[in-house]
Amino acid sequence: MRYLRKNIEAMAGYTPGEQPGAAERVIKLNTNENPYPPSPHAVQALREVPADRLRRYPDPMANKVRDIVAKMYGVERENVLCGNGSDELLTLVVRAFVGEGEALAYPTPTYSLYPVLAEIQNCRAVEIPTGRRFEMPGEKLMRVKARAMILCNPNAPTGVFTPVETIDRMAGRFKGVVVVDEAYVDFASDNAMGLATKRPNVIVLRTLSKSYSLAGLRFGYAVGAPELIKGLEKVKDSYNVDAVSAEVAAAALSDQDWMRANVEEVCAERARLVPLLTELGFDVTPSEANFILARVPGGDGRLWYEGLKGRGILVRWWNLPRLADKLRISVGTPDENDALLAELKKMAEGLDADEQVEAVMRDLFKQRIRKEPGKGATR
Ligand SMILES: Cc1ncc(COP(=O)(O)O)c(C=O)c1O
Repeated sequence: MRYLRKNIEAMAGYTPGEQPGAAERVIKLNTNENPYPPSPHAVQALREVPADRLRRYPDPMANKVRDIVAKMYGVERENVLCGNGSDELLTLVVRAFVGEGEALAYPTPTYSLYPVLAEIQNCRAVEIPTGRRFEMPGEKLMRVKARAMILCNPNAPTGVFTPVETIDRMAGRFKGVVVVDEAYVDFASDNAMGLATKRPNVIVLRTLSKSYSLAGLRFGYAVGAPELIKGLEKVKDSYNVDAVSAEVAAAALSDQDWMRANVEEVCAERARLVPLLTELGFDVTPSEANFILARVPGGDGRLWYEGLKGRGILVRWWNLPRLADKLRISVGTPDENDALLAELKKMAEGLDADEQVEAVMRDLFKQRIRKEPGKGATR
């Protein structure tokens, strides 16, 4: 007897980054959380939620937050939808815009949830590889025949930022909906929010998980044309945002100064880390997010990932084409980053001579294979 839908049975499901127990003492640089606390106003709002708000159902549209977001961007309430994290909003866009067997396009590598959502929806994922330094494959993507495309900007896990003009041009040519996942955009130099009202087919997604230090809260929002937002509303849970979340999100969004100050600290640390990692032999991809993707010396990402883990530092590593030789490191506090650098330095020095020679040989061999046409091509 088969109980599951065929596509659900066949899929692996999303693998979240490790979340160690509260008692475990680790330096956690693996899921791009903010190392600084959320706004004190948000914490106070959390403490002050009256018990009666829990007894009753919440506002199904979280209109208090919708109005704050609308005011922030000079749009109307009808342009905004709140969600249980931007992951929920991503689920809603795939559910609302891409039918079974239809196409969803995105560049690769990117946020590993997108293919999972395509598998759940039983739609076709059209994956277009980014350029050599992970640049947006704009020309190719905008010509794809798909119901929707998702552009993560800055991209995860690369941190590469695509200029807004490029996204604008792509949205002008593409026939479907363009979803711009701006989970990390507060750490970047620009953003595409203006396109959410300029273009009828653009939806911009934001989250409070990163720049607002509220990953545990689960709150995100979408901004776009009222017709698109109305469509998302139809396919969401009736009460997708709980009463506590809405109150805390409202307070956090109203304290922009706190968020900005933390973002500045993170960006300053990101700038400090880049030359220091480079000095240690890492090849760093320029990042406009709160993390850094870096190729490890010798090219064996697993070795460095496991080495760091053994020393109590969690970073992210994927055994995937173009990523297996790299680590994604979330930017931590200055102390956390110093600890990371110290351990990396020790590891670089401690790799015994044989291991180093082996890693370098493997690296050279892989580069040779990559140069020979038709062999070792990445997706
Ligand atoms: C690119 C991207 N989009 C969305 C999310 C999910 O954010 P949220 O916590 O709001 O669900 C993440 C989380 O890591 C992410 O990396």
